[in-house]
Amino acid sequence: MREHTTGRTLIALFAMVLLACTQTFAEGKDKGINIIPKPVSLKTTGETFSLTESTKILYSKGLKEQADLLFSALSPATGWDFAVAESSKAKKGAISLLLTDNADLPAEGYSLKVSAKGIEILAQKPAGVFNGIQSLLQLLPENIYSDKRQRDIAWDVPGVEIEDAPTFAWRGMMLDVSRYFYEKDFVLKYIDMMAMYKLNVLHFHLIDDAGWRIEIKKYPKLTEIGAWRGEGANRSGGFYTQDELKEIVAYAKARNVEVIPEIEIPAHTLAALSAYPWLGCREMRHRVPTYHFISRDLYCVGKESTFDFLGDVFKEVFEIFPSKYVHIGGDEARYDRWKECDHCQKRKNSLGLKHDRELQVYFTNRVQKMVGKYGKTIVGWDEIVERGLAGKAVAMIWHNKKKAFTATADGHMAVMALTGHSYFDVAESRTPGEVKAATWLSPISLEKSYSFDPMLKGLDEKYRDQILGAQACLWTDQFIHGTKLQEILPLNENRSEVYAEYLTFPRMAALAEVCWTPKSDRAFPDFEGRMASHYNRYDFAGYGYRVPEPKLVSKKKVSNGFEISVENVVNGAEIRYTEDGSRPHSHSKLYTGSVKVKSLQDFQAITVINRKQYSLPFFFPEDYSKFKPYGKLMAKWAPTKISDKNYEIFKANATGKVNKNGVYEIAFLYTDGDNALEIESVALFKNGKQIGEDKHVGTAGKNANGNVYRFSVDQYETGAGFEIRAKVRGARGNHSYGVIFIKRTGDVQGI
Ligand code: ACM
Ligand code: ZN
Repeated sequence: MREHTTGRTLIALFAMVLLACTQTFAEGKDKGINIIPKPVSLKTTGETFSLTESTKILYSKGLKEQADLLFSALSPATGWDFAVAESSKAKKGAISLLLTDNADLPAEGYSLKVSAKGIEILAQKPAGVFNGIQSLLQLLPENIYSDKRQRDIAWDVPGVEIEDAPTFAWRGMMLDVSRYFYEKDFVLKYIDMMAMYKLNVLHFHLIDDAGWRIEIKKYPKLTEIGAWRGEGANRSGGFYTQDELKEIVAYAKARNVEVIPEIEIPAHTLAALSAYPWLGCREMRHRVPTYHFISRDLYCVGKESTFDFLGDVFKEVFEIFPSKYVHIGGDEARYDRWKECDHCQKRKNSLGLKHDRELQVYFTNRVQKMVGKYGKTIVGWDEIVERGLAGKAVAMIWHNKKKAFTATADGHMAVMALTGHSYFDVAESRTPGEVKAATWLSPISLEKSYSFDPMLKGLDEKYRDQILGAQACLWTDQFIHGTKLQEILPLNENRSEVYAEYLTFPRMAALAEVCWTPKSDRAFPDFEGRMASHYNRYDFAGYGYRVPEPKLVSKKKVSNGFEISVENVVNGAEIRYTEDGSRPHSHSKLYTGSVKVKSLQDFQAITVINRKQYSLPFFFPEDYSKFKPYGKLMAKWAPTKISDKNYEIFKANATGKVNKNGVYEIAFLYTDGDNALEIESVALFKNGKQIGEDKHVGTAGKNANGNVYRFSVDQYETGAGFEIRAKVRGARGNHSYGVIFIKRTGDVQGI
C-alpha cells in the first residue's frame, strides 16, 4: 500500500509538464474535461476519438477483467456490443489496455492517450489500468453512466495525454453497516461509487453495539441473535453470509478496492455479548440496542475464553478477507466493568499493572500477536496507540492532529479520518430543512471536505512517509431510529440508503481529490467547476446526492438596497429565487440575471434540477458579528416563542456546541422589540437528563443584567445530545427578539 513515495517521484518527473499544464487544464475545462480527481498531468491535443459500434476493446494478457469491466461500462448506454479481444499491441480504432514494465509508472499510476486513431491506457499493474478507465469514462459524455441505451449521442472523447498517479496509497471510505444494515447490493453500489473516484479502501465497520453483521460458523448465535434488534414489526437487522462477503471482496478487488474488515475490540461489542453473555464480565443477558448509546459492557479481558473466541473469529475472518490489514476498533472503551470484575482485576494484578486502562494495551497487544500469526497488520482508532503498544500499527486518527504527531513519532503509520473533515454522517449545512443527521459536530461543507490536507501542517518532515492517506467515515447511528421524515424531497422516506448517498456525494469526490491530487494543484473553485458535470453523471448512474445551493458571485450596495448576482454550479440546472425572504420552490421566479432587493435577507435562491430535486436555499444569514465575544449562535427567541405572563420553558439544542468537557457560558442577547426578556433559570440536559442548573434572575433588553449563565460539563460523550431549557418570559409584554449564544470559557477545575 505504500507506493506514494514513488508517486511523488512521478510527480517530480512531471513537474515541468505540470507548470505548462495549469494553463492547458483550464483550457481543457472549457472543452469539457472535468476529471475528478484531477490528474497530475493532462495535455489536450485538439484531436477527437469517436467511439463507434466497431470500436474494439483490446487488452494485454492479465487485463481481461479490466477489459470486461470497460465493456460493461460502455455497452449499456451506447447499446453497442463491442468486440473484446486479447492483443499485446495497441491497434488503430481500438481502446487498448496495456501492461508495461516501465518502472517510472507507480503501482496505481497510468498513462492515457486519446488521439483520432485510438485510445491507449498503459500501466504497470491492473490497478493502474482500472484507474485509467475511470478517467476515460469521465472524458465521455455524462450519459455513459446510464444503464439504459442513450440515443443521438456523439460518443466523442477529446484528445488528451494524461500521466497520472495518486499522492496517497490509502484513499478510503468507512461504511458502518452495524448501526444500519445495508444489503449486499447496496454495498456493491457503494463500491462502484468509490471506484468512480479511484478510492481504493473500503473500511467495513461490521461490528458494533447495534449489530453483528458477519457470519461466523463456529458461533452461529452472533448472527442468529446479534444481528437483529427490536421486536415484531419493529424487528430489523441482517448479516452477510461468508459467501456474500467473499462476493463483496471479489467485486471490490476487480475495482481496485481493498476491503478491510473491522472486528471491534474491546468495546462497541454489545451485539456479541447479547449472543454470548459469557464474553462480558457480568455474563448478563443483554439485548441488541434499538437506539444509539455507548455501552459500558465490553469483552472481559480477564477470561481466557474471550481470547479463544477472538482467535476463532479471526480465523474465519481471514478466510474471507485477504487484506494484509485488519481493523480492530479500540475506540471509546470504558473500564467500569473491568474494575468490578474479579477475572479482570486478577489479570491486572498478575501483570503488575496499575490502572485498568493498561488492560486495554494488554488486550491490543494480545490481539496484535494473534493476527500477526496470519501476517496481518492491525489498524485501530487512535486510542490503540495512546498508551504504548508492543508492535507497530496503523492509527486511524479521528480525534485531532496531535494524535497523528504522537502516533508517527512512536513509529506507527497513520490514516487521517479527522471528525471535522471526514465524518460524512454530519450534514453539509445548518440550513433549516437540512438532512437530520449527526449534530454533535459542526457541519462539513463540500468546501471544508476539500480543504483537508492529510499531510498535516506541523508534521515533522521525517514522519511524512508514515501518513498512508485519508478516509471519510459514514456512521449510521443517527439513522437507526430515524422515524422522522425529511423535508428534502428525495429524502422524504425512511431509507438509510438514500441518506447514505445524500451524505456521501458530492463530498466523496472532494475526498478523492484530497487523497489523489498534489496539494499544490488543488483549488476549490477549479474543483467546483469540474464538479458541475458530475451531478449529471450521478443522475445517469442512479446515485443520490446533495444538490448544491447556487453560488454567490457578487453583492453590491446600490441606492436603496443591494444588487445580487448568483451562479449555477450544476450543469443544466436552473436557479429559482424569491425577493421577499420567503423560501423558494421549483416554481418560483426563474433567475436570469442580477436581482435588486432592499435588504439582503429578502433574497433566497435554490438550484432546481427537476421538480423533485432541488437544493436548500442560498440566503444571507443575519449579521451577528458584534456578538462574537459571546461565542456561537445557539438559538433565537421571538414573540411567538415566549409568554408575556408566566415563565415558560424555552428549549435550545446545544448538541455540537457543547463539544468537550469544560465550563460553558450561555448568554441571552436582545436584538429588537419593545420588551426585554426575563430569565429565571437555565438548566443543561445531556441525553434528556439534567446535568446542571444556574438559577438566578437575569434580564436581556436594551439594558442587560445577569444575562449570562454558567455550566460545567465533566461527562462529555461523543454522540450525546445536549439541550438547554431556560425558564423565560417577556417583561410586561412579549414583543422581544434576541439570540442565545454559547461559549466554552475553559477547563473544569480539578479534572
Ligand atoms: C469513533 O468515532 N468512535 C471512532
Ligand atoms: Zn472481566
